[in-house]
Amino acid sequence: MSNITLKVNGKTHALDVDPSTPLLYILRNDLGLQGPRFGCGLGQCGACTVIIKGEAVRSCIRPASAVQGAEITTLEGLAQDGVLHPIQQAWIDEQVPQCGFCQNGQILTAKVLLDHNPTPTDAEIREAMAGTLCRCMTYYRIQAAIKRAAKTNASAAAGARRKGAL
Ligand code: FES
Ligand code: FES
Repeated sequence: MSNITLKVNGKTHALDVDPSTPLLYILRNDLGLQGPRFGCGLGQCGACTVIIKGEAVRSCIRPASAVQGAEITTLEGLAQDGVLHPIQQAWIDEQVPQCGFCQNGQILTAKVLLDHNPTPTDAEIREAMAGTLCRCMTYYRIQAAIKRAAKTNASAAAGARRKGAL
């Protein structure tokens, strides 16, 4: 008998779990989604980030009961029909990761930033990304990848506008 229903990456999951279980544990242990990572477990590093209602949320401190019914997106949900999201592609093009442990949080936090602010300045990027920690110090490459993704998004939007005008 299930007592929690979660919508993750477009799929609905009925789960029999303690409603106070942190969302991160359910994503990783029950749903097998390995994108979100356990870093600090205290809401301080960002490794466990997911997107809920358009905001970057630290899943290690969010009980499952608090996110029932909300659309939850994990790193696994960014690519569509086998095509990487422009942010993922930018991460590859700029060769951002080193050990990779923090990169789930970096990519999803960057996505939320660009969704809210499609052309962020360097200062705005630094401010938005400041709480998502990287022990390998990939911060400059993260900044470059965000700017690259912003350009890709702008070109795609311009292309769509041109098509619409034809
Ligand atoms: S593991 Fe959630 S913020 Fe560090
Ligand atoms: S790439 Fe190693 S912690 Fe960020």
